Parts: sequence; C-alpha cells; structure tokens
Amino acid sequence: MKIGKLQIDNPLFLAPMAGVTDHPFRVICRQHGAGVVYTEFVSSNGIIRENMKTLEMMKFTEDERPIGIQLFGEYPEVVGKSAKMVVEMLNPDIIDINYGCPVPKVTKKGAGSAALKDLCLMDDITQAVVEAVPQTPVTVKMRAGWDANHIVSTEAGIRMEEIGVSAITLHPRTTSQQFSGHANWELIKELKDEVNLPVIGNGDVNSPQDYINMKTTTGCDGVMIGRAALGNPWIFKQIVHSHKTQSLAEEPLVAQRLNIARQHFTMLRDYYDEKLCVNLTKKHFSYYFKGFPGASAWRKLLMKTNTVTELDSVLKEMTLTLKPKKSMEFSYSSELKNL
Ligand SMILES: Cc1cc2nc3c(=O)[nH]c(=O)nc-3n(C[C@H](O)[C@H](O)[C@H](O)COP(=O)(O)O)c2cc1C
Repeated sequence: MKIGKLQIDNPLFLAPMAGVTDHPFRVICRQHGAGVVYTEFVSSNGIIRENMKTLEMMKFTEDERPIGIQLFGEYPEVVGKSAKMVVEMLNPDIIDINYGCPVPKVTKKGAGSAALKDLCLMDDITQAVVEAVPQTPVTVKMRAGWDANHIVSTEAGIRMEEIGVSAITLHPRTTSQQFSGHANWELIKELKDEVNLPVIGNGDVNSPQDYINMKTTTGCDGVMIGRAALGNPWIFKQIVHSHKTQSLAEEPLVAQRLNIARQHFTMLRDYYDEKLCVNLTKKHFSYYFKGFPGASAWRKLLMKTNTVTELDSVLKEMTLTLKPKKSMEFSYSSELKNL
C-alpha cells in the first residue's frame, strides 16, 4: 500500500488516541507490527501560538516512522499554517486532519467532526493544508456524518479526493453515536467503491478475524486499530501471523505481558517527567493487566502509587508473584516474535 509516495510495508495503522498514543506506546506498537502510527490530535491553534505543551505532544523518534501527526482546527489558514510549521520542525511522514472528534469542546468551535456539517469548511481546511505542505502526504480521518440523517462520508470522500488528499480513514459511526452501536462497515465499502484513493477502514476491529472480515467485506486498503491495541499492542503481530499462516496466533503469557508493560513503563519514565509518567503508566497498566490473576487487587495497588519508585516496587512484586513456572515459560511462539 502507498500513501502518496510513502511505501507502507504493512497496512495496519495504530489509531490516534488522545491521552494514550504517547511516544513509548507508538514505539511498542511499531515493534509489534503496526505499519504506521499516529500522534493524538494536536490543536493547530496551539501550534501556531508555539504553546510548549502542544509542541511536546508531537515529538517523535526515528524508530516510530512512518508516523502521521494529526491536526485539528476550525480556521483553514491556521490549520494550513500549523501544518507547514509541523513539517518544517519535525518532518513527519504524513499530516492527518481530524474530522472525527465528537467531543463538544472541539466541535462547538467547528473543528473535528463538526466539519462534516459544513463540507465547504472541510474543503477549505483540507485545501489549505494540501497547499501548505506540497511535499508531504495529507490524509483525513473522518466519521460517517453528524447523525444518522446526515451521512456524508462518501460525498466528503469524493470532495477530499478532488482536493488532493493521499488517503482517507473512515470510522463509520456518526458524531451523535460517539462510541455506541456498531461501526457501519457498509459505508467503508461505499467510499472505497467511489474513490480512487487508499481507504483505511476503522472501527470495531478487535481480532485477526475482524481484520479479515473488514478487508473482505469492504475492500479497504488498510485497517486502523484503536481500542483493541490498548494493553494489547501485540494484536498487530497476531494479525500479520493469521494473515500469513491462516492460523490463529497464541496469546502472550502473563509474564510476557508483564515484560512489555515494564518496557512501556521504563520508556515513559525515561521520556516524561515523573507526574506524567505516573499518570500514563496507571492508564496503560489498567489495560495491560486486564484478565491477570488477581487483576483488581493489583490495579488497586497501582492506583495508590504516586511516584516512579512506588510504581517500580509494585511491578517488582508482580513479577515475583506472577513468575511463570519453567515449564510454561514463553509459549508466545518465536515465529510470532520474529514477524
Ligand atoms: C481514548 C481515545 C482517544 C481517541 N482520540 C482520538 C484522536 O485524538 N484522534 C482521532 O482521530 N480519533 C481519536 N479516537 C478515535 C480512534 O482513533 C478510533 O477512530 C476509534 O476508537 C474507533 O476505532 P476502534 O474501534 O479500533 O477503537 C480516540 C479514541 C479513544 C478510545
């Protein structure tokens, strides 16, 4: 799959997720088979004001590439200008525009999925970005429409193609649905049939079988995974494995999950200040430890921690308590590890 001139070896995309797709998580997902990762959405207003916190959110390392930086905003000139600044500062592989955020704080200003109520504004924002960064592929990520009576994804996709975007990601829920009900994959198929661009399907892919179902029922070129990767970054490898071998990949053992969680924690500790590290670690660990023996007791202990040292000692205790017996060590096949 290609996005503009960018060759994507593995058409599996880690979805942008505010508050969770931090630098360490993106690196871990790349190591586990994600073909492309995205930053969470970043405010174009914050970028042009050179707000330090906003600029920090976009930093990435070379081992994350290919990476997309996702922008949101309501003013075409501002979003365009911010895209140019981002490309000059960081040179990401992709600039993505968010037309999917349903959060009122964002939509009441006209940004995020509110643009789906005003396709002329969506055109103008996209045009401004495409013109501002002619050397960088621009993609858009959108929902299906504002509500069930205003489904616009296919029409919007055709307009986006005319403007010159390089790929479209569709999460086919409406804004008013938020995360309820199901993603309507029919709309991904409809969009794919109408445009001559790579289409990335998104929504409710939770397993290798879902991946195959989405690919076959919609004909999409790539698949983006969000919630199912939380505490479960090996889902990408499992999908690659199933695709290559037509068989189901094994689930990693508790000890292996713990190792990956520890790696995540170590990277958070090295990359962020203590407060942010503790907050992000708690968030990610509540996903990693789902289904662990004694998970809720461990979670309670973790939630009480306030420092990196306290977190470290809980992790050590977990490692000792949950240490696997020799006979059951690492059934996560070497084949899977090498993918
Ligand atoms: C915690 C969280 C944060 C999210 N933040 C963003 C975001 O910053 N930008 C965006 O385009 N979508 C965001 N999304 C939506 C996801 O990218 C994705 O479209 C959605 O979760 C559906 O995919 P899934 O069923 O694979 O989770 C977020 C979703 C979650 C759960």
